[in-house]
Amino acid sequence: MTGDDEATRQFGVYVHIPFCAHRCGYCDFATWTDRDHLVERYVHACRTDLERRRGTYPAATSVFFGGGTPSLLPADDLVAIVGAIDRTADAEVTVECNPDSVSSDDLARYVDGGVNRISLGAQSFSPHVLAALDRTHLVENVARVVGAATAAGITRINIDLIYGTPGESDADWESTLASALALGVRHISAYALTIEPGTPLGRAVAAGARPATDDDQQADRYLAAERVLAAAGLENYEISNWAAPGEACRHNVLYWSMGEYLAIGCAGHGHTGGERWWNVRTPERYIAAVESGTSAIAGSEQLDDVARAEERFSLALRTSSGVAVSQQTTTETLDELAGAGLVEAVPGSGSHLRLTVTGRLLAADVTARLLVAGAAIAEVGVLALDTIECQRLRSPDSHRSDRGPDG
Ligand SMILES: C[S@@+](CC[C@H](N)C(=O)[O-])C[C@H]1O[C@@H](n2cnc3c(N)ncnc32)[C@H](O)[C@@H]1O
Ligand code: SF4
Repeated sequence: MTGDDEATRQFGVYVHIPFCAHRCGYCDFATWTDRDHLVERYVHACRTDLERRRGTYPAATSVFFGGGTPSLLPADDLVAIVGAIDRTADAEVTVECNPDSVSSDDLARYVDGGVNRISLGAQSFSPHVLAALDRTHLVENVARVVGAATAAGITRINIDLIYGTPGESDADWESTLASALALGVRHISAYALTIEPGTPLGRAVAAGARPATDDDQQADRYLAAERVLAAAGLENYEISNWAAPGEACRHNVLYWSMGEYLAIGCAGHGHTGGERWWNVRTPERYIAAVESGTSAIAGSEQLDDVARAEERFSLALRTSSGVAVSQQTTTETLDELAGAGLVEAVPGSGSHLRLTVTGRLLAADVTARLLVAGAAIAEVGVLALDTIECQRLRSPDSHRSDRGPDG
C-alpha cells in the first residue's frame, strides 16, 4: 500500500479545547484562562457541530483532543464529545493532559469512553526549568499521572518535553530525558523552546529582562535527544517525535501524509475534499455560530496541484519515511545536500530521500532548497513528485562515491 492509499484510508477528527488553568509564559496557543463560564456551552456546541456533521464524514481512525488543556474538561463532558464522533472500533483516541488536571477517576472514565492514548505536557523534570517556563505542575505529578493512566489501562502515553530553555544545563536536559524514559513511556515529543512574540516570555526577552534562546545550544540538545532516545529504542519518526516500534501517533502521521480530518471547536484546522479550512478563533464566536445554526468555518483555501505537491513534499520530508524526488531536476542540489551530510537515502526504500540528523536541524533550509530545485517539475507539468524514481539515492554509499574530498 502506498503512502497515498494509506492516507486515503485514514480519517481524523481534531477537537480543540481552548481552556487552561494558567497561561504558561511561552505559549501562544488559542487558549484562555478566564472562560470557565463557557465550558458547558462549548461542550454542547462541539457535540451539536458533530451531530450536524454525522453521516458526512467517514468513520474516524484517529481522534485528537488538543488545546489548551482538554483534561480540564469534566471527564464526562469529554467522553460525551468522544461519543458523538463516528469512529472505527480500533480508532486511536488521544487526549492532551496537563499533569495538574487529570485524576485517576478521570482516566478511568476516559477508558470507559474510548480514550486509549494520552499526551502529557511534562516539559522538563528540573524544577528550576519548570519555574523558568512558568509551569505550575510539580515534577512528581508526571509520574503520578503516568502510573494512574497505566493502572487505568492506557498504555499509549506520550510525554511532551521542551529543550533549550535559558538556564537549562546539558545535565538538566540529560536528566530530563532519563527521567522521561524511566517512566517507561514509548513515545516522546521534544520541542525547542520557541520565543513567541506577544507572549509574556516574548515580551520579557524583547525588553532584555530575560535571555533569548541559543540556536547552537538548542542544536546540541536536539542531538543529545536523538542519541539518548535512539539508544533507548525510540526511533525518530518525525523531526520532533520519537516512538518505540508500532507506537507512532496515528493522528499526527495523518497530518504529515496530508490525510483528511475534521476540525471541531474554535481555532481548529481541517482538511477535507482537497480544501484546507479553519474555524473561528474564539470560544465565544464558535458557540455563537453553532447555537445560531450558522457555519463556524472562518476561512478556507483550495490548494492548487503545485501547492499540494509542494506541501506533500515538505511534510513527508519531516518524516523518517522520507520522500521520493525527481532525478532530473534536483541532481545538483541533491549532491550538494548529501555531500554536506544533510540528506540520505532511506535504507531499503529504493528511491526515497530523508533528512539526516544534522539535516533535521536545518529542515526549513533543506526543504526550501529542494523545493526550489524541484520547482522545474511543476513548470513542465509533472506534479507527482513522489512517484519519480531517483537512481542516485539507492543507498548512502552511492553519495560517497559522488563526493569530492570535502564532501
Ligand atoms: C497544548 S500543550 C499540551 C497539554 C497541556 N496544555 C500542557 O501544556 O500540559 C502542547 C505542547 O506544545 C508545546 N509548546 C507550546 N508552546 C511552545 C513553545 N513556545 N515552544 C516549544 N514548545 C511549545 C509544549 O510542549 C506543550 O506540551
Ligand atoms: S502550554 Fe499547555 S497549559 Fe500551558 S498555556 Fe499552553 S496549552 Fe495551556
